[in-house]
Amino acid sequence: MKGVLAITSAPGKVILLGEHAVVFGQPAIAAAVNLRLHCRVATASTTTLNGAGLSPSAHPYVHHIVQACGLRENLAIDTRSEIPSGSGLGSSAAVCVALVSALVSRAHAIDPQEVAAKAYLTEAEVQGRASPTDTSVSTHGQGILVDRSEKADLLWSISRGGQQWFIHHCPMPKLSLVVGYTGVNAPTGPLVAKVKRFYDRTVFARDIVREIGQLTEEGLTRLKANDAVGLGQLMTKDHRLLAVLGVSSKELDRLVEGCLPFSYGAKLTGAGGGGSMIALTDSPDKVSEVIKRRGGIPYKVKLGEPGVRLEKE
Ligand code: PMV
Repeated sequence: MKGVLAITSAPGKVILLGEHAVVFGQPAIAAAVNLRLHCRVATASTTTLNGAGLSPSAHPYVHHIVQACGLRENLAIDTRSEIPSGSGLGSSAAVCVALVSALVSRAHAIDPQEVAAKAYLTEAEVQGRASPTDTSVSTHGQGILVDRSEKADLLWSISRGGQQWFIHHCPMPKLSLVVGYTGVNAPTGPLVAKVKRFYDRTVFARDIVREIGQLTEEGLTRLKANDAVGLGQLMTKDHRLLAVLGVSSKELDRLVEGCLPFSYGAKLTGAGGGGSMIALTDSPDKVSEVIKRRGGIPYKVKLGEPGVRLEKE
């Protein structure tokens, strides 16, 4: 490898409340977790990703960013991830955020708003429909509240596809959370499209989306009060509503039901269909054991991880 130009890392995330509904303008709360994606960009004779030629079908996010940046030189892009890909823990957002940051850092200091916007537009173009939740939390780190109106602690805002989102900093108490990865890789785009069809066709789906928005607002109050009992109940309720929207799976339900006796609450996190669930618990060891016994892979995570940053070689 020739000269290293930049090394960055960006965190994965969990959505505590509000996934899917946020695509329709309802609020969502997300937190960065201590699983990071590392990205190194170096000069090279041809442009590659992890040693292979870049292809729009195999590497849509990286390909889109490289095209959008209009690079005039070839780059060797290498990524190493602690975030399981397709797990619903925001690995594609972390790739976008880390790569955009590495590229812009060559011209000027990393501007979180510029990174969050460029990374979001990449996700939205590749997936067809997306909210800025994942890319914003990976950029900013800690916790964020995405909402349809401006509140205190605004970080940035964006409109696209008839929706406007305001992204705010949201303080994250030290909650003990266990992620249960089902091992089933479920792409986000088709799940978001499925909910959109349901939403467009039925008042029932629109009511559920609104109900998820209401419980997310209530969850914000519980989070600020550090009320694990209240927050957990809302998480479980959110899972039931997401299941009615058709985005849970038998693997997710099996992990959620198994964790509930030892948790304040549990729910799928991210797009669903597979991917991961989260359990809010005081017994992380017990919950991890249940997840393993039920065929999942547990990760005890810490919330409130810092956002994207430049790393030293
Ligand atoms: O699949 P993930 O972890 O990237 O989560 C997607 C979250 C959704 O609300 C389903 C979509 C979005 O863009 O907000």
